[in-house]
Amino acid sequence: MKRPKRVTIAEMGPRDGLQNEPAIVATATKIAFIDLLSESGLPIIEATSFVSPKAIPQLADGSEVYAAIAKRPGIRYPVLVPNMRGYERARAVDVREIAVFTAASERFTERNIRMSIAESIATFREVVRNAKADGLRVRGYVSTAFGSPFGDEVRPQKVVEVAVALLDLGCDELSIGDTIGVGVPSQVEELVPLLADRIPLEQLAMHFHDTRGTALANVYAALGCGISIFDSSCGGLGGCPYAPGATGNLGTEDLLYLLASMGIETGVDLQRVRAASRFIARELGHALTSKAFTAMEAHDALLSG
Ligand code: HMG
Ligand code: MG
Repeated sequence: MKRPKRVTIAEMGPRDGLQNEPAIVATATKIAFIDLLSESGLPIIEATSFVSPKAIPQLADGSEVYAAIAKRPGIRYPVLVPNMRGYERARAVDVREIAVFTAASERFTERNIRMSIAESIATFREVVRNAKADGLRVRGYVSTAFGSPFGDEVRPQKVVEVAVALLDLGCDELSIGDTIGVGVPSQVEELVPLLADRIPLEQLAMHFHDTRGTALANVYAALGCGISIFDSSCGGLGGCPYAPGATGNLGTEDLLYLLASMGIETGVDLQRVRAASRFIARELGHALTSKAFTAMEAHDALLSG
């Protein structure tokens, strides 16, 4: 399998990133953050979620955020939707792409969305049917694809089964998530070909968290299996509050550094992503975890000082 020459990056900072921040971020800050990211050439920016505000208080202002961001032509701004209530909220602000989300672990699905996996698929059937009838694009997430935070075993066949169920509902793109960052390249090399047997490669994205430092190694393995869509989060923001110990997503700067250095095109301006990370770090009042971001900031400070 030849590695792709071009990769599509889906930016998770405003959603997966901010949902894990304990202090509520001002709506105006979220809007400014997304507008900065939109200047970088990122083709997909997950803007917010329309979940229960009791589940994720941080993103309770999803409607205000989505309505106010400057939507650039050619950029996709998906939002997370768990049920018809979320879908109606998304439609009220004219969202053009939604993302439904379930998992390969029963225990995680129960904690995260208070449904069994089968119930989640049944719930999304109606959501996706409506979205397609309204002309929207749909992403589907399969979380905990490499391991569950609650100790239940996750088999690759289960990941494939859930992914195919989402595809059959009408999802246009599937994102396979290592929610708690436990996966290693040998697992990627086992799972991706099994998925690719049933799902066109160009509809498959990988969503790695970098909790144990294996995310970039997993990207490299996935590239070798022909994957050309990766989710990442600027500065390495992120995690899922329903996955204990789940820390940041793979940093967008880390991913961009790897891809650019390997001669793989993304169309994304690394310096502008850094500017968005710098902005949000200042607003959050804490350091970010992306290694490439941290190294480049230190390097620039040395040169300018
Ligand atoms: P539930 O309590 O079973 O829902 O939660 P319910 O239908 O019984 O409703 C309870 C209350 O919530 C009601 O309000 C509803 O109106 C309200 P009340 O009558 O009590 O005042 N409600 C809503 N309000 C606004 N928008 C909605 C909505 N739905 C219900 N959409 C539910 C079930 C799914 C709603 C809840 O568990 C939930 O919202 N979960 C979302 C959790 C979440 O966002 N987790 C993080 C995202 S997943 C992730 O990070 C992984 C990912 O990054 C990939 C990876 O890393 O693998 C995607
Ligand atoms: Mg995630």
